[in-house]
Amino acid sequence: MGWSNKEVRDAIIQEAEYGRYVPPLFRFQKQEEFAALLCGLAPQKLSRAFRCTSGSEAVEFAIKCARASTRKSDIVSIDGVYHGHTYGAAAVGEACGRNSAMAPCPSGFLKLPLPHPLRGPNEDEVIEKFEDLVESNSAIAAFLSEPVWTNAGAIVPSPSFYPAIERICRARNILFIMDEVATGFGHCGALFASELWGLRPDILCLGKGMSGGYGTIAATLVTESIFRKSRSIPSYSTFGWVPLDLAAARANIEIMVRDTLWEHARDVGAYFLKRLRASFSANKRVGDIRGIGLVIGIELVKNKKNNVPDTIKAFLVRRACEKQGMLLETIDGTLFMTPPLIFTRKHVDEAVAILSKILK
Ligand SMILES: Cc1ncc(COP(=O)(O)O)c(C=O)c1O
Repeated sequence: MGWSNKEVRDAIIQEAEYGRYVPPLFRFQKQEEFAALLCGLAPQKLSRAFRCTSGSEAVEFAIKCARASTRKSDIVSIDGVYHGHTYGAAAVGEACGRNSAMAPCPSGFLKLPLPHPLRGPNEDEVIEKFEDLVESNSAIAAFLSEPVWTNAGAIVPSPSFYPAIERICRARNILFIMDEVATGFGHCGALFASELWGLRPDILCLGKGMSGGYGTIAATLVTESIFRKSRSIPSYSTFGWVPLDLAAARANIEIMVRDTLWEHARDVGAYFLKRLRASFSANKRVGDIRGIGLVIGIELVKNKKNNVPDTIKAFLVRRACEKQGMLLETIDGTLFMTPPLIFTRKHVDEAVAILSKILK
């Protein structure tokens, strides 16, 4: 929503005047109303919400609910993707296996390779690997992934990839879980990226854009049946959904829905991609320009024959952009940008002008 949005700020100030706190042991109307708001927006019939304070916690709930409701142990995810810093989330993602200081990682986490547009494998190979895995392993509780691999460098799957994965899950009674902590609430040009391909996640993890940074709030949405089978799991969260965070998130979401900001993100993002491609596709250091909505990546490579990511060059470009007043992230060799939903074509033109100077 950008910095210092007046409507969100006013909602927070108004709530602060009450200065109240309700311990999680009690029912609290504002929390119940907010849960209903989230469930009403979700891409499929998800009727229950767990209160969380971060995306990592939202992923933990997803793992707990998947195991509790299926009484199976294994969670399959895509390698090289970030899902959070806590032990379960780090084991679903790449953060645990690649960091020996965290050893031992929790068990029961299996990986499929990330389909990569430049270096492979291709999506069919990954789908085949998943088929083989479910054939040989009856302990798989769930498949868990991001609908768009933001943290792997803005990699967008083809429209057929996830429907194929979801079909395999349905045929085997494996839960299909979408981590929309980064993609949820508009950035991919839909309120939830799952909607882009008609996906129907059994469990949905939400965070980041839920409050747009104005509150410390996240959620895990589940179906009624998963909730009923997961009631025994611990879910007490002292600071889960405190009134100030609820006020921030509610105002943020209400503005987003009122102004259909995801449509704006889709249009401005398409313009951004078009301008980037027109300006830099021929650059011999630019291996790929990709993205969807306002999730955008420019992958720098050492050369276009071997497509080895140029991590150092990306870092130098990032530093040079900072000096010009433009902040972006790098993921290996990829310049990664997720500007706010209020980004305009004028901002795009400024960004392209800065990148032009530096990439040349
Ligand atoms: C896809 C995804 N899942 C989970 C997380 C973890 O969220 P948090 O940093 O709020 O714990 C992140 C954070 O970067 C994320 O991008």
